[in-house]
Amino acid sequence: MKVLGVLGSPRVGGNSDILLEQAMAGARDAGAEVEKIILNRKKISFCLNCEKCNETGVCVIKDDMPEIHKKILEADLVLHSVPVYFWAMTAQMKAYLDRWCAFYDGNWEWHKAYAPKMKGKKVGLITVCGDTNVSTADPIVHSFKMTCQFSGLKLIGVVQASAGGKGEIDKDEAAKKKAYELGKKGAKP
Ligand SMILES: Cc1cc2nc3c(=O)[nH]c(=O)nc-3n(C[C@H](O)[C@H](O)[C@H](O)COP(=O)(O)O)c2cc1C
Repeated sequence: MKVLGVLGSPRVGGNSDILLEQAMAGARDAGAEVEKIILNRKKISFCLNCEKCNETGVCVIKDDMPEIHKKILEADLVLHSVPVYFWAMTAQMKAYLDRWCAFYDGNWEWHKAYAPKMKGKKVGLITVCGDTNVSTADPIVHSFKMTCQFSGLKLIGVVQASAGGKGEIDKDEAAKKKAYELGKKGAKP
């Protein structure tokens, strides 16, 4: 079982990172092999909608995304953790998600070569917002839910938490436990 953690916050050691680490610890405790990607440390350009990948399955942009595509394909579970920026996901996470385009053909079906690895792949989501009302992150949840529903990915769970200052979530034992359990549950075969 391979678990890929994807951090959408530029704040390494911040709230979404802390919860992602918890989820990855849960996955590790369930016996999974885990790896984390910090999107902010990768070069990820914006999707051009050039449609070339629809034919080839390969993005024309030469940056770090092809290497991430490979890791996504190899992972059994992809755990995303992202803060709310202006009622939406961060630009880092959105740029990454848009580049998933390369997995699809012109009919928004998985490319034949990728289908066996993508169909039913498990996805998890953690959100953090400064607002005390965690549903502020609902637009992000909607985006991931629809993407999973549309593509036949398996959304195994969502953890929505609230914290403002860097690392403040560390005091929230309930949120940390939920994130840990998400990773543990997701890493079980
Ligand atoms: C540019 C920016 C926009 C933000 N917009 C929102 C927002 O719309 N709603 C909200 O509740 N929090 C908002 N926040 C607060 C962050 O979601 C909050 O500080 C979060 O804990 C950051 O998580 P991190 O430590 O993982 O980066 C914003 C923060 C920044 C920097």
